[in-house]
Amino acid sequence: MSQLSRPVAYVVTPEPVVEGAGVHLRRSIGTRRLDHLDPFLLLDHFESVKPADYEAGFPYHPHRGIETVTLVRKGEVKHSDSLGHKGSIGAGDIQWMTSGSGILHEEMPQVRPEGIAGLQLWLNLPARDKMSRPKYRDLQDERLAETKTEDGASIRVIAGEAQGGKFAGPVEGLAVAPKFVDVVLPPGAKFREEVPRGHTAFAYVDHGEVRFGPELKLAHAPSLVVFGEGDVVEASAGSGGGRFLLAAARPLNEPIARYGPFVMNTRAEIEQTLEDLRSGRFARAEPRDEQGLA
Ligand code: FE2
Repeated sequence: MSQLSRPVAYVVTPEPVVEGAGVHLRRSIGTRRLDHLDPFLLLDHFESVKPADYEAGFPYHPHRGIETVTLVRKGEVKHSDSLGHKGSIGAGDIQWMTSGSGILHEEMPQVRPEGIAGLQLWLNLPARDKMSRPKYRDLQDERLAETKTEDGASIRVIAGEAQGGKFAGPVEGLAVAPKFVDVVLPPGAKFREEVPRGHTAFAYVDHGEVRFGPELKLAHAPSLVVFGEGDVVEASAGSGGGRFLLAAARPLNEPIARYGPFVMNTRAEIEQTLEDLRSGRFARAEPRDEQGLA
């Protein structure tokens, strides 16, 4: 049986947002127009060479009930948290943080001549994992080897398997079975990747132009391309080439109760979260799980 190429369902132009202590971002998921794309809750794109756009950063703030995935393309983001985890996310690095029951952290872009560029994606946790122990996966650039496909694409597999099982990313074993592939298409290159039916799939183009789906719909950076149902995502480079993150995951189909950096299933759980913060019981004292320190 032939595989159905996933059509482009719609394209979202990211909206300008000021977040944290004054960081200028472009947000495409987590807006009034697109509240979420189950199980994806938020997608922010930060990119600027002007320190005033990013230097204020994201001082100490809490998270509960989600995973945050930070991809740094350019520059450096310093990170530290309430559990004593300290580190730096540099160009090419990815931090995959599972907040679980609670973490307080700060994320501070460093002022550099090259500025800053990257993406942050929030992935929902299933109800049964929302109060799990916080966990980090620090994926350094060296661990995310770039591979050339036969069609001329350069890919980095971050999560799940890709190219018919030929490659596997370092992030595995999550409830929503995410597939994240970072794709660079030089002019003339093509890309094709199977995505299980029923899974939510999108591509975020942050550089250049890329054509997607059987209708070869052209998307200019920055844009979020959301796919309809099918078996495979197909892309080809626009005239100058382009880059995108392909992300897919199994929807949770659970109720969402959202309040800023907390995403739970019910209003009562949000109230409990605020009560835990007030009473100092938000972050647990037990050690975090840690994995993937190269
Ligand atoms: Fe955060």
